[in-house]
Amino acid sequence: MSTIVRKSPLPRYYQLKEIMREKIRSGEWKPGDLIPSERELGEQYGISRMTARQAITELVNEGLFYREQGKGTFVSRRKITQQLIHLTGFTEDMKARGQQPGTRVLSAEMRPADEAVAERLRIKPGLQIFRLHRLRLADGEPLAIEVSHISFIGCEKLLEEDLEHNSLYRLLETKYGLPLVEADQELEAGLIGSEEAQYLKVPVGSPALFTRRVTYTERNQPIEYASSVYCGNKYVFYTHMKREQLLS
Ligand code: GLP
Repeated sequence: MSTIVRKSPLPRYYQLKEIMREKIRSGEWKPGDLIPSERELGEQYGISRMTARQAITELVNEGLFYREQGKGTFVSRRKITQQLIHLTGFTEDMKARGQQPGTRVLSAEMRPADEAVAERLRIKPGLQIFRLHRLRLADGEPLAIEVSHISFIGCEKLLEEDLEHNSLYRLLETKYGLPLVEADQELEAGLIGSEEAQYLKVPVGSPALFTRRVTYTERNQPIEYASSVYCGNKYVFYTHMKREQLLS
């Protein structure tokens, strides 16, 4: 489909959506490209601006396009997939996608664990833990904000590490000899708040995915409790499921 078929039973906005989808699939429109304005699309396809707007808005909601205030509407990157079976860190996930991981450390400090964090880490409240607040980037573009709470004997040594250029998981495993064995993770949908919006460069109220992960080292000992906010329109979580033999 490359033009709007007036006699088609399919609504016009829907036909335009399909035309635009095809332009992305075929590579004519590439990630980061500015798409034509509502007025231009209207003129090109002989439809109203309202119809063009509806098609664009739906593709924004589906995550294929994103809007930048005052600049226009752009084609999104393919969504980044985090599979939920193997325990991987951000750096590994980005590399697996052929993207360049990046980190901005927003703060790194020792501080006493509050009740909620202590419970997740199975330690006494008030015990000193290492808290790391990071902005995570993919090809230089902000993607997530993560707050990690780390507890192990000697965790204060992490204060001296260059966590802007090193993967935390890699450091823990290779330098500190702490194998990361398994993790429990919760996923929750939500909206980007005002502080996060500034870092992630998206409007307040954009879709967000919140994760909370407890990572365990050997002997089932929690080592990290991390809460993260991912830009919801750039991320997909993937699970492969097998059906258990059910008793009849
Ligand atoms: C993921 C997890 C975090 C973990 C991070 C490690 O993003 N949600 O809990 O801290 O990976 O990533 P990296 O090894 O790149 O520092």
